Amino acid sequence: MIATLNMDITKVAQSKIDKVDFQNIQFGMTYSDHLFAADYEDGEWRNFKIDPYDDIKISPASPALHYGISIFEGLKAYKHEDGNVYVFRPDKNLERFNKSAERMCMPLLPENIYFDGLNTLLDLDREWVPNVPGTSLYIRPFMYSNDDYIGIRPSRNFKFMIITCPVGAYYAKPVKVKIEEHFVRAVEGGSGFCKTGCNYGPAIYPAKLAQEKGYDQLIWTDGKAHKYIEESGTMNVMFVIGNKLITPALGDTILPGITRDSVLILAREWGYDVEERKVEVAEVISAAKDGTLKEAFGAGTAATIAHIELIGFNGDDHKLPNVEEREFSNKVLKAMDDIKLGRVQDKHNWLHKI
Ligand code: COI
Repeated sequence: MIATLNMDITKVAQSKIDKVDFQNIQFGMTYSDHLFAADYEDGEWRNFKIDPYDDIKISPASPALHYGISIFEGLKAYKHEDGNVYVFRPDKNLERFNKSAERMCMPLLPENIYFDGLNTLLDLDREWVPNVPGTSLYIRPFMYSNDDYIGIRPSRNFKFMIITCPVGAYYAKPVKVKIEEHFVRAVEGGSGFCKTGCNYGPAIYPAKLAQEKGYDQLIWTDGKAHKYIEESGTMNVMFVIGNKLITPALGDTILPGITRDSVLILAREWGYDVEERKVEVAEVISAAKDGTLKEAFGAGTAATIAHIELIGFNGDDHKLPNVEEREFSNKVLKAMDDIKLGRVQDKHNWLHKI
């Protein structure tokens, strides 16, 4: 695709691609050859560049380092059998990025900068999009304050970048989760609906405590009484109870996931009874006890559909049915893969061709 921005392109002298073992890629460990960068200065976007992937220079006084003035996105590109590269629903990521930007007093990112940057970068690094089953190219757009000012105020200078990395599975097997009853990820009126660094950093400590007890991740609950379920780890969470697909309704405290949205669209098209509402911890635990909790899974870009094997609550572990017996989550995982990989017609127009 032809870039419309006036972009300076500096290519790597030597690609690193030959050193990559695409059969054994771990999430987030290997970065592609190039990155896209742009600056926001004096109230306008400028300096559009493709550069070799490298460390960045940042003021030690940047509010990104001190106050978490940074936002990010996560999306994926897939290689189809004919060799063409497609990105899954990138327009939704831009929409969410700009909601995060507004909440964090950052400038909105214009659509042409996002798409020209994305298209040019992926076109240049298209060899980095793997075609091994279960792999994809994870795309990480992000923006941070580039001010040189340690006081508290809305920043004035920003850097926007896109980096990419070939990835395999985020979770190699079904996850064990613990319902968190003390720590919170987000509160009403807070920034839980944004992808800002400051929602993710503080969540690591409670997750680490749960991991020390043998769980992989947490199920977050509301900040008032820990009565309602919100998310699981860095994913949205869904339950099949009886014949219903149930997930917490969106709001201040829940990230509007693009995988979440895609799953709900497919479920409704297939005639499933879908409920987006407050989900009580007590309801899920009682369904786990009486056997009506048939499935539970996380939904996110990195993890796609992460089956939940077991839910820990109040000292008890509740084991869920075997993954092979789970009708909905297996069906939706396959259907989404089929769309992403071009095995079926993209009737929702979810794929963006590079
Ligand atoms: C994603 O699913 O894209 C995420 O942002 C998760 C990430 C924090 C690894």
